[in-house]
Amino acid sequence: MTYADVYESWKSDPNGFWMKAAEGIDWDRRPSKALFDENAPLYEWFSDGMVNTCYNAVDRHVENGRGEQTAIIYDSPITHTKREISYVELRNRVANLAGALRAKGIEKGDRVIIYMPMIPEALEAMLACSRLGAIHSVVFGGFAANELAVRIDDAKPKAIIAASCGLEPNRVVHYKPLLDGAIELAKHKPDFCVIFQREQEVADLIPGRDYNWHGFQYGVEPAECVPVEGNHPAYILYTSGTTGQPKGVIRSTGGQLVALNWTMKNVYDVNPGDVFWAASDVGWVVGHSYITYGPLVHGNTTIVFEGKPVGTPDPGTFWRIIQEHKVKTFFTAPTAFRAVKREDPTGEYIKKYDLSGLRAVFLAGERADPDTIVWAQQQLGVPIVDHWWQTETGWGIAANPLGIEELPVKVGSPSVPLPGYDVQILDEGGHPMPAGEMGAIAIKLPLPPGTLQNLWNAEARYKKSYLEHFPGYYETGDAGYKDEDGYVYIMARTDDVINVAGHRLSTGAMEEVLASHPDVAECAVIGVADKLKGQSPLGFVCLNAGVDRSHADVTKECAALVREKIGPVAAYKMTLVVDRLPKTRSGKILRGTMVNIADGTEYKMPATIDDPAILDEIADALKTLGYPNAG
Ligand code: COA
Ligand code: AMP
Repeated sequence: MTYADVYESWKSDPNGFWMKAAEGIDWDRRPSKALFDENAPLYEWFSDGMVNTCYNAVDRHVENGRGEQTAIIYDSPITHTKREISYVELRNRVANLAGALRAKGIEKGDRVIIYMPMIPEALEAMLACSRLGAIHSVVFGGFAANELAVRIDDAKPKAIIAASCGLEPNRVVHYKPLLDGAIELAKHKPDFCVIFQREQEVADLIPGRDYNWHGFQYGVEPAECVPVEGNHPAYILYTSGTTGQPKGVIRSTGGQLVALNWTMKNVYDVNPGDVFWAASDVGWVVGHSYITYGPLVHGNTTIVFEGKPVGTPDPGTFWRIIQEHKVKTFFTAPTAFRAVKREDPTGEYIKKYDLSGLRAVFLAGERADPDTIVWAQQQLGVPIVDHWWQTETGWGIAANPLGIEELPVKVGSPSVPLPGYDVQILDEGGHPMPAGEMGAIAIKLPLPPGTLQNLWNAEARYKKSYLEHFPGYYETGDAGYKDEDGYVYIMARTDDVINVAGHRLSTGAMEEVLASHPDVAECAVIGVADKLKGQSPLGFVCLNAGVDRSHADVTKECAALVREKIGPVAAYKMTLVVDRLPKTRSGKILRGTMVNIADGTEYKMPATIDDPAILDEIADALKTLGYPNAG
């Protein structure tokens, strides 16, 4: 079947299409149908089925004869460690961990926050929660205590599972003090914490609250897999929106299992037993879907990589791992390739390794610039597949579906919509735009299985953020166009979200932090083009009248404040002190125009601008940092 046939088969019979895909999952009770639309525009999938995620990701492979196959390869160039965990070993470890959590009171529906670096125990913690039907929420290690506290107050976890530390190439990330600080800041307090002590840093435990990962599992009864309803939340993953309050994306159990399992063959073209590597982090959606759940549910071997594309120890790390662990499909972010290309433009490190087992490379997380794609195509000689998705969708909206048909590549486009997604380009009034014309990208409801079901504690925000602007559609927040062949092009965000090194960040959240600086009267944060990271945040601040401190001191404090409140991952370094910000007559800050000036792109003078002269002041300020050509 061609891609067109498969897409058409979904379109003409969505229920039949997804029920067939559901056959790839082992259900405790088969669902009677795929879509549950009684509550539209809130949709659910497979709601009356009963199923367990961990059973499908782990136990069933042991029962089906894959017990000795490696489930997880841990490769950490930072700690010089390599380790393999077979499916049978994984089952035993996860059953014990789940048993220990249950002995401390964790049950179906309880929330558990996981705050861990890239070690296999992070995946085991996720799987142990799924085994019990508990709802995990993994928080990325690059966030500060304050961000963790916000998530604790929203998710109200009964337990938090953390490691003593994380390891960045240049420093130890002290997780435990961050965790203690977050619990101190949060109004909600977990009943208990479980700490995995790493040998690089052993943390102090608080008696009565904190338990040692190994100690608390001693002598417990291993837990069985608890079947849950198909619409039971599998996890909550917080992602940046337009404000400092992150959105808790709810992923449901049945839909996630069916959709991810379907993508492993149809999109990524791997078979059970193949090695699949997503060089991301479990704190991000890519880590949830394609380090943990997708590959394991499908019976693949997954790799947990604790390292960076460059510097751990050199730009050959990716290629070493691909050779050594026989990776068939590799998934990374364009920024990682840009980092490698910068250090090894002619691919000298690539030539040192045998990459003949590599079938394809997938890129996502940000726009893949044509230079990077062409470089990778030339250096690696395998399909380089840009694909587009979001934390909200959990899997690709558009991709070149290699397992169905390898379509012609159009550099600059993540190819075509996958079955399940009816992608439309709309004008402001919600009317479809002709091919080639830019508009807001929206997806006709319902979204397919495995996409977000709702926002945690925030149904009204869910409807407002995604469903209300274009009734009948899900608003992606991205803008772009489709060409005559139906290929989509993702050009920009329509909101205050920026993408820094594949990390999704909210400029609104950074503005909230800057505004809390006692000397700052007003501020705006924009994303400016950055050759390595795609975008970098840049803040403009206007100081309170009478403040006569050195601007250098204030800007240094601004950077420190964002790092302290949001975390190092924000990579917020640049602040400009200006007298005024450009605004419309109604007072709206013209952030888009400031981006155009910084990036040196053409723009029309906004008709509603209050005082055009301010744009010259902004341009002069930007010149002091080397814009429009910096980055
Ligand atoms: N825990 C704690 N801190 C972290 C962290 C983590 N898990 N991940 C990143 N950070 C810190 C970094 O140490 C850095 O801190 P510093 O300011 O003290 O140096 C800061 O956050 C910014 O990190 P990053 O944006 O990653 O920049 P970098 O200069 O360290 O590395 C790249 C640049 C391109 C190599 C790196 O960003 C990269 O590998 N990106 C790929 C991203 C990716 O795979 N995303 C997944 C989406 S699919
Ligand atoms: P996240 O939720 O962190 O995965 O970020 C999702 C956002 O990243 C999308 O809405 C896009 O703006 C951007 N993005 C992800 N993948 C791509 C891609 N292949 N091309 C262009 N933008 C992308």
